[in-house]
Amino acid sequence: MLRVIPIALIACLVLAGCDRSSATTGSVAGGDAERGATLIAMVGCGACHTIPGVSGARGRVGPPLVQIGNQAIIAGMLANTPDNLVTWIRTPQSVVPGNAMPNMELNDHDARDIAAYLYSLR
Ligand code: HEC
Repeated sequence: MLRVIPIALIACLVLAGCDRSSATTGSVAGGDAERGATLIAMVGCGACHTIPGVSGARGRVGPPLVQIGNQAIIAGMLANTPDNLVTWIRTPQSVVPGNAMPNMELNDHDARDIAAYLYSLR
């Protein structure tokens, strides 16, 4: 998977001048943003992240997710596409081994709903 990243970056640069909006689609097929917000609060992402609209989510271990819907790259590694965001939410340790965000045993459905909520943050 890692070999795909430079190609995605180059394509982004060549095709779009790396316009931020072209790097994100901003929607997750079948994702339920409202359920995602509830899950974010339940599983405790807010212990590490500041997340608008989620009560008590004021953590400072990881980056604030205040405009994650507009951001070009996730964790400095992955193009910010819905599938990549879901991959990151489910298995951050396989993307950046040893980083402080644990794999949280979320299933695909839950991760999609969480991603749908995060894409509402722009
Ligand atoms: C124990 C702390 C911790 C928890 C809990 C945690 N994260 Fe993270 N998260 C991090 C850290 C640290 C990073 C930065 C990793 C890196 O860049 O290598 C990160 C990065 C991210 C990013 C990429 C941010 C960016 O600006 O590129 C997203 C999105 C994210 N986390 C979402 C979540 C979600 C959703 C949850 C809950 C399911 C969650 N995180 C739970 C610590 C945490």
